[in-house]
Amino acid sequence: MSDAPFTVAIDGPAAAGKGTISRAIAAHFGFAHLDTGLLYRAVGALVLDGAEPIAAAQALDPRALEDARLRTAEVAQAASRVAVIPEVRAALLDFQRAFARRPGGAVLDGRDICTVIYPDAEAQLFVTASAEVRAARRWKELREKGDTRTLADVLADVQARDARDSERDAAPMRPADGAKLLDTSKMSIEEAVDAAIAHVEAKGAVLRG
Ligand code: CDP
Repeated sequence: MSDAPFTVAIDGPAAAGKGTISRAIAAHFGFAHLDTGLLYRAVGALVLDGAEPIAAAQALDPRALEDARLRTAEVAQAASRVAVIPEVRAALLDFQRAFARRPGGAVLDGRDICTVIYPDAEAQLFVTASAEVRAARRWKELREKGDTRTLADVLADVQARDARDSERDAAPMRPADGAKLLDTSKMSIEEAVDAAIAHVEAKGAVLRG
């Protein structure tokens, strides 16, 4: 058993499969996992409740990440609006960097993990899929939670968020030079997970536990 840090950095657009892949990698290698989107969602939720975004980010309590409301589509849009503010991103940086180097290994998923948060991550992935495939996956997830929006609405949401995330000046979403590109459009989730684990293993990760 080793306590050495090992960072797996995973970026990509909404509903590409990052969350499932990150959780599977964390479980396989015995690493800790941080869904960094939850930080922006938590700030977005506080702003919907009337808070000022920069102050909300600076005072964010990691316990706020457990709230089920953070998974709603309304909060996702609010998250991508606060995520364009450089001071919001700066306020969340140290927490993410410290998590990346915690002893025993860490998986972080988001939009700027490879490019900004921890560019020296030992293993880097950019997980993507076509907007149509991603919208269909997200629509299915939302429907299982009782959300009644149409597939067309969900596709429009995904496209609006893709545009905001990749066109912003502060840490725009883009594949890092050293990241392995994983297009999951035509893959089952098992195939995508296997490909991601094989990449992390090839980069030298060993099982912890
Ligand atoms: O789960 P999904 O991919 O739909 O979204 P998320 O990962 O929870 O991220 C919500 C929003 O937070 C994104 O649309 C981004 O605007 C923002 N975000 C970011 O800017 N940087 C990150 N590292 C993670 C999320």
